[in-house]
Amino acid sequence: MYHAGIIGTGSYVPEKVLTNRDLEMMVETSDKWILERTGIRERRIAGEEETNVTMGRIALERAAENACIDLTEIEMLVVGTNTTDPMWPSAAGHIAHLLNLRRNLPFFDVQAGCTGFNYALATAEQFLKSGQYKTVAVVGSDKLSAITNYKDRNTCVLFGDGAGAVILRRRSKEGLIRSYLGGEYKLRHTLVLRDSEDDHGCRFMWMEGKKVYAFAKGAMAESCLRVLDPDGRATKKELRTLLNQVDRIIPHQANARIIVSAAEELESRLELPSGAVKRKMIVTIEKYGNNSTASIPLALDESIREGKIRTGDLVILVGFGAGLTYGANLLRL
Ligand code: ACO
Repeated sequence: MYHAGIIGTGSYVPEKVLTNRDLEMMVETSDKWILERTGIRERRIAGEEETNVTMGRIALERAAENACIDLTEIEMLVVGTNTTDPMWPSAAGHIAHLLNLRRNLPFFDVQAGCTGFNYALATAEQFLKSGQYKTVAVVGSDKLSAITNYKDRNTCVLFGDGAGAVILRRRSKEGLIRSYLGGEYKLRHTLVLRDSEDDHGCRFMWMEGKKVYAFAKGAMAESCLRVLDPDGRATKKELRTLLNQVDRIIPHQANARIIVSAAEELESRLELPSGAVKRKMIVTIEKYGNNSTASIPLALDESIREGKIRTGDLVILVGFGAGLTYGANLLRL
């Protein structure tokens, strides 16, 4: 079997910054509440002309540049996204066209809520490990501001826009080790798109925040354990050893408190000292809020650039989102 490694990363966020102070003028909220309850100070909002396609295109171009490859070397493009509008053709198709990728290249979107990037990466992984392709690009890009109701304080303080991308290449040494994916359809109603009562023709995100929070904490902890121990047979001691070997965890950036809760859940399940898992967590939410499928590849790209993650590190990417869905990817950089 072949291995698949990440050879380049790239990201993009729109210029426009929406601060907590700005939101105070729009809904009944406060900078203090948002910061304390979510860890967010500001988020980026796409311009009118910007979409998941335009943002994803830039992120992918940057990833290819970072990988030092020509864009025509890409043999397949997978885009994790939830905001392709209209739904046909896929955002992947548009991005492939805009970047003049090779003719007849397979392209498709993966729609799995905010877990979309984890799902897309897991999909690409199979094509590389089977030996079918040598170079595959994976993008996570979302314009959540297009489906956010800026009259609903329960949701509008949380979300933002952005994109991230990785280039994967078949190689002989270990890279993307494995992925673990899950779904919980029973809880689909806790995070949905609803027709707006005031703005006809608009559909906005609506959620039962507390239920999503409770689910997210358990699902992220479980995903981290299952990606390390796919058969679920390891003892607590073995799991402790496996988790101790992980250098960094990049969680979906939905709420800083959810990230801490997931870390504490892992510490408690494995009887690890307090802070042992929390220290590994990468948190970028303060600057970007929750930008869905972009949050993990964006944090990965930033962490590599800032030297928080280095070649050889063992990293878990873990997410959850609408569906509900959840999952993780384990990789050696
Ligand atoms: N400003 C001020 N007060 C607010 C705001 C706000 N922006 N939003 C809610 N409140 C109020 C509520 O109305 C409630 O008031 P009440 O007690 O009078 O009813 C009070 O604050 C407390 O609300 P809680 O629901 O208890 O607050 P909680 O600590 O649960 O935090 C939050 C709410 C931030 C939404 C949290 O539940 C959360 O993050 N949930 C997960 C959300 C999420 O991640 N969704 C997306 C995941 S998938 C994806 O990424 C698309």
